Amino acid sequence: MSNNLYCTTDKLSDIICDNYSLLQVMSRFGLPLGFADNTVEEWCEANQVHGETFLAVVNFVAHPKEASTDLAGISVPALMDYLKQSHHYFLDFQLPNIRRKLIEAIDCSTENEVAYLILKYFDSFVNEVRKHMDYEDMDVFQYVNSLLEGRKNPDYSISMFARDHDQVDAKLAELKNIIIKFYPPRGNGYVMNAVLFDIFTCEQELASHGQVEDRLFVPAVYQLEKRLDATKVCEVKKPLVEEPEEDTEMTGSQLSQREKEVICCVVKGMSNKEIAEELFISIHTVITHRRNIARKLQIHSSTLLTIYAIVNKLVDISEVKLNL
Ligand SMILES: [Fe+2]
Ligand SMILES: [Fe+2]
Repeated sequence: MSNNLYCTTDKLSDIICDNYSLLQVMSRFGLPLGFADNTVEEWCEANQVHGETFLAVVNFVAHPKEASTDLAGISVPALMDYLKQSHHYFLDFQLPNIRRKLIEAIDCSTENEVAYLILKYFDSFVNEVRKHMDYEDMDVFQYVNSLLEGRKNPDYSISMFARDHDQVDAKLAELKNIIIKFYPPRGNGYVMNAVLFDIFTCEQELASHGQVEDRLFVPAVYQLEKRLDATKVCEVKKPLVEEPEEDTEMTGSQLSQREKEVICCVVKGMSNKEIAEELFISIHTVITHRRNIARKLQIHSSTLLTIYAIVNKLVDISEVKLNL
């Protein structure tokens, strides 16, 4: 490990022993435990995780000041999946877990107005976090998915999101300070300390999550917007020779060899950009192929397309990235 930053040839076990909080990043990327002596590269490949994106986030979370914000190797879909999983972790695991412990620590069994107010404050904080993350899941990620498919909403841009993007950890810091400074000792101090440790961790993780969004996700999407704009200009000037024609038959058409290749790439979890690079075609061509495939097969879900590819022996199940 040079300059404190981790690299693809580092053993995962060394990284985790160095900084155990990175276990959270691993699980949000879908990397399981049991990595033995595998390096980052080997374990990511074995689990069909985009290694460069994983490493970029790991370095950013572990060493935000030193980590490079070079976006060259980052996959936007992989980064977006990571952020979605993080939202799921905060909303469905960590915050409910803190609430349970808080109820135990502040003794809600008796009439206790302070306990009631603390809980009320915590619940309003959780509502705020939920609203923030729902907006990202439903609106921002949908917008980025459209970009990945080669479509851009003219009324929106990632800089609009960046401009209004709040940090949600501040309210939690206030709650933590109120408890530390003013809450009179009652009941079991160990339980209160345990919930405070969790609040400290959550505050740190929320701050780090916001920074990954601001410094990795937003610039990566911005680049995507720029590339899409450039592709459009290029396509207007010079139509691509290899452009496939729209197939207007609804069903029963035979898939072309190229369409089969596109299916294989899709079910392996590749983005449109990655497919374009793999097959040496433009993103626009990939999208047209995908539209023709959907029309011919009458399949619009990637899960069903995966089933189709396995049943028709286009891919082996071991190559498939399951997003169930
Ligand atoms: Fe987020
Ligand atoms: Fe956010």
